[in-house]
Amino acid sequence: MTPLLNDTFLRALLRQPVDYTPVWMMRQAGRYLPEYRATRAKAGSFMELCKNPELACEVTLQPLERFPLDAAILFSDILTVPDAMGLGLYFAEGEGPHFERPVRTAADVAKIAVPDPEDELKYVMDAVSTIRTALAGRVPLIGFSGSPWTLATYMVEGSGTKNFSHIKGMMFDRPDLLHTLLDKTAQSVTSYLNAQVARGAQAVMIFDTWGGVLAPANYREFSLAYMQQVIEGLTREADGRKVPMILFTKNGGQWLGDMANTGCDALGVDWTTDLADARRMVDDRVALQGNLDPCSLYASPEYIRDAVAKVLASYGHGTGHVFNLGHGITPDVNPDHAAAFVAAVHELSRAYH
Ligand code: CP3
Repeated sequence: MTPLLNDTFLRALLRQPVDYTPVWMMRQAGRYLPEYRATRAKAGSFMELCKNPELACEVTLQPLERFPLDAAILFSDILTVPDAMGLGLYFAEGEGPHFERPVRTAADVAKIAVPDPEDELKYVMDAVSTIRTALAGRVPLIGFSGSPWTLATYMVEGSGTKNFSHIKGMMFDRPDLLHTLLDKTAQSVTSYLNAQVARGAQAVMIFDTWGGVLAPANYREFSLAYMQQVIEGLTREADGRKVPMILFTKNGGQWLGDMANTGCDALGVDWTTDLADARRMVDDRVALQGNLDPCSLYASPEYIRDAVAKVLASYGHGTGHVFNLGHGITPDVNPDHAAAFVAAVHELSRAYH
């Protein structure tokens, strides 16, 4: 195995000493980069880009060519899993994701099968291997999945939603059905993440984008419990090294204490929670990842530097912080502002270690 030249990100996740705070950006390979838009045009569409391991590798590396990021993230999407479960994923231009066959009835749930990642999702696994080889040990590669609850939200709604009427309707009216669906989805996510680790992912992250729309008791029963089920089934070591696990519930600030008990190594934090409060809630049991408001990148490089300084001060001294945005970078951000963000983290964080 090629030695890892920069392991700052893995060390911070495991709360081992580092010289500076490592940084990456959610959605770092994406539409704000003109070179991404060019490769996507070459591929034909977003899904064709995801299904072409060479091109998926090319876009994964693009942000690393521009900025000295401390991690790469697999270029793919969380919705590849429900697609492999037979739902028929498609992206309508400018409209976000849709499924041809949403899951609404007992018969729909019964039909759902747990996919074999090396079969229906082989294109993702080939992308992982290709990217890991191309990285040549530069920085670690992050694999990822959606949380069972977040995937079920898209599967039941059939697209993005404002009101969550179908998924919450099922949750309150037929909790038994939703539990069956979440269990199948959790099994799919577990084997999908383990297959990514077997192919070379060096850390894994679960995106629970929609856990934060739930009441606390419902969050514990329908989102957190299934993330815990996934974590309990994960491969935690590869090549003699621990594979850190990051859990991110958007808008989940009030549950960070519970989330820290799942056996994860780190928690993603969005900008609605102060890192000092988050650190108190988790009591240094796990590392924290976040949490600059992505819209800060619309401001001037001087403002961005100041905002980075405030987030660093809020976390305070010591390891256990991975700098990130609190959610994905938006498509209309000036890439020079992303550069200012990364540079500020590297420069200003040394004083904290
Ligand atoms: O972070 C990265 O660079 C890795 C790639 C990645 C993508 N999606 C690429 C993508 C990751 C980790 C995701 C996760 C994802 N996908 C989530 C969880 C994180 C979050 O944002 O909350 C969710 C909910 C999805 C589902 C999804 N995929 C939506 C709602 C959309 C459309 C929204 C939009 O921004 O237009 C996508 C499409 C998508 N996934 C794009 C990218 C780069 C844009 C597609 C394009 O190129 O047109």
